Amino acid sequence: MTMQATALAHPNIAFIKYWGLKDQARRIPTNDSISMNIGCLNTRTSVLFDPKLEEDHFVLNGQRITGEASSRVSAFMDHIRQLADQRIFAHIESKNNFPVGAGLASSASAFAALALAGTEALGLHLSEKELTSLARFGSGSACRSVPGGFVEWRTDPQTAESYAFSIAPRDHWQLVDCIAILSKQHKPVGSEAGMLSAKSSPLQDARVQDAKRRLELCRSAILQRDFPALAQVTELDSNLMHAVMMTSDPPLFYWHPQSLGIMKAVKKWQDEGLPVTYTLDAGPNVHVICPREVSGEIITRLKSFPGIIEILQGMPAGPTRLLTKN
Ligand code: DP6
Repeated sequence: MTMQATALAHPNIAFIKYWGLKDQARRIPTNDSISMNIGCLNTRTSVLFDPKLEEDHFVLNGQRITGEASSRVSAFMDHIRQLADQRIFAHIESKNNFPVGAGLASSASAFAALALAGTEALGLHLSEKELTSLARFGSGSACRSVPGGFVEWRTDPQTAESYAFSIAPRDHWQLVDCIAILSKQHKPVGSEAGMLSAKSSPLQDARVQDAKRRLELCRSAILQRDFPALAQVTELDSNLMHAVMMTSDPPLFYWHPQSLGIMKAVKKWQDEGLPVTYTLDAGPNVHVICPREVSGEIITRLKSFPGIIEILQGMPAGPTRLLTKN
């Protein structure tokens, strides 16, 4: 039996966000979401099952991880073991080429890569749909990093099947995500804990009720490569999610003053006629998204901004893929 596999996955940036679960145990989100995989950024994960191990060993960026992060990985490995009807533990080695815990969805690429490497190492060959469905048990947004390009995560209202699929390949639209990094620190409240309090915001119901409309606007903007339409719905969706966060109990403010400064600058650049938009995940960093033709201009403008530590850039990326297996 094959025991070792290595996979590579990209993080993704959501235009329509996932923020809250309606079924915690089955990991069913309150609303469907749409994202784009981000090229240049990746997680590479190797899994080696070893019958001599008495527990999983998890090494992230060269450091042995114990405690909460490691239990989360082990709980996900239990899903894989259950699928394969195996009880063997594994050495898991994961490397990111970008900062962890700064609102860059490291858990998305991490669990997408782990889902593929882990299942292949145990000789399971899941379909893409099955793999997306599995990945969401590691991290919800991870299911959107499995297929390539522009991806929708949908829950079938009848069967409660929850899975992601590509709505357009990576080369469909040459967009650039220019990520303005304002902090590389671990966020004080992670997505999982933050999401638990989403229901306490009086705005969450309104956000969820209108989600289908935004999803459809976003999908058709992507399919038609209609940048102004994409910009409008992307900003609305990000603002709505942050409004929910800020009005939850306890309130969550992920923005830094400079985050708002960049959002305001983006609005000014739009008034000047530049096609550009912004969106923020559960962190202060701003994803400034624009068509490739104007990305040079946008990067130049961002560089003159105080407080930006680094600007990362990524174009739409392909699916999670297997690198080695033996
Ligand atoms: C703000 O997928 O990280 O990035 O399922 O608890 O692991 P868990 O949460 P996670 O949440 C992502 C939230 C978001 C929005 C999004 O990517 O849709």
